[in-house]
Amino acid sequence: MSIGIAVIGAGMAGKAHAAAYRVAPTLYQPTLPELRFVSVGDVNAPLAEATANRYGFDRHDTDWRAIAEDPDIHVVSVVIANSLHLEVVKGLLDAGKHVLCEKPLADTLESAREMARLAREASSITRVGLTYRRQPGIAAIKNWIDDGTLGRVLHYSGRYWCDYGCNPNGPISWRYKGPMGSGALADVGSHLTYLSEFVVGQNIQTVSGGAFMTAITERPVPLGAVVGHGMTEISDEREPVENDDYATYTALFGDVRGSFEVSRVAAGYPNGLNIEVFCENGAASFHQDTPSQVRLYLHGDDPGTNGYRTVNLGSDHPYVAGGMAMDVSGVGFGQNEGFAYQARAFLEEVAGIPEAESLPRNASFDDGVHNMEILAAVAESAANNGKTVHL
Ligand SMILES: NC(=O)c1ccc[n+]([C@@H]2O[C@H](COP(=O)([O-])OP(=O)(O)OC[C@H]3O[C@@H](n4cnc5c(N)ncnc54)[C@H](O)[C@@H]3O)[C@@H](O)[C@H]2O)c1
Repeated sequence: MSIGIAVIGAGMAGKAHAAAYRVAPTLYQPTLPELRFVSVGDVNAPLAEATANRYGFDRHDTDWRAIAEDPDIHVVSVVIANSLHLEVVKGLLDAGKHVLCEKPLADTLESAREMARLAREASSITRVGLTYRRQPGIAAIKNWIDDGTLGRVLHYSGRYWCDYGCNPNGPISWRYKGPMGSGALADVGSHLTYLSEFVVGQNIQTVSGGAFMTAITERPVPLGAVVGHGMTEISDEREPVENDDYATYTALFGDVRGSFEVSRVAAGYPNGLNIEVFCENGAASFHQDTPSQVRLYLHGDDPGTNGYRTVNLGSDHPYVAGGMAMDVSGVGFGQNEGFAYQARAFLEEVAGIPEAESLPRNASFDDGVHNMEILAAVAESAANNGKTVHL
């Protein structure tokens, strides 16, 4: 058995899906069947081709139907504008594909319900890319609530501040079109709301205090393709921004109340997902800027010395335990990425790519000698009551 994979959408998140399928078999022990990387689909042919080449997919397609019709493809990520999810997912499910669809599930609730109905009738597997509960820090907080370390949740605070919409010359794109609620709320509020129910452990029963704001009311029409939040050449023409740059709301989960704030015009916060949960026995917080750490406060110690402490995430924490290459307790989540960039730099040098066009070279053997000369000097100094040793 082998699994044929395709990604539809080669934009900002599409590349992340393509890369993730490549890395997935290297995590944990090799239990997966053989993976075949078949196609990247995008109406933007050069982008599809470049992404397919970059991540080692056999081909690119400009019409998603070519992917739906290919019997060698079993698994498809749908990573295109929210308003296109229904049509494409329907076609893929009709063709029997397993589908991982990006969030929010659709552009409207009606379309999302229709997709859920289609999924119930389908024989294949359907999932949504609400990625963040897989963050080991968020999952650790959830575990500390469930196992009683933090105890009963008293209240919850979540915000997802982004700054991708701050520049008024950032071009109009699908992200800025659609009714109020399809902007920042759908884009990042979808993550934040999903996470809150996961962490608190209860579904939201009521929301109140909902309010929207559009801070930048029109944006320039681009002259080229817009990828993700990126800039491109713009024309003099401007179009109205239809949806929310900012949203706020509160929610009641059973007896727990939470407050929420989302923005795409929060200067200085490229990806500012931040949750904090206050509980009977203490509190915990997570910030996406420091994804390899979580903060934990527990009542009980001397109030003169007690306070939030930082826990480094690694092989003792959910989702990543047993999955990291350097799977050592206390070696932080994120450490392994450094090895990948090091390997890339080494391979580029071996491939003859000039240094000016490559990553900075890794340390030379001479650097290694110099490094050891310093260590030897330290040892000599220590052996001689801390005397000064010249290099
Ligand atoms: N989970 C996450 O963290 C995360 C992050 C970013 C985006 N997303 C989601 O991913 C999806 C895509 O977002 P993005 O930022 O990558 O968008 P994007 O605009 O960067 O990319 C979308 C791509 O879809 C292509 N496209 C348009 N119509 C198409 C069609 N009919 N068939 C094939 N390709 C088509 C475009 O040419 C573009 O390259 C959205 O649903 C978004 O909410 C999720």
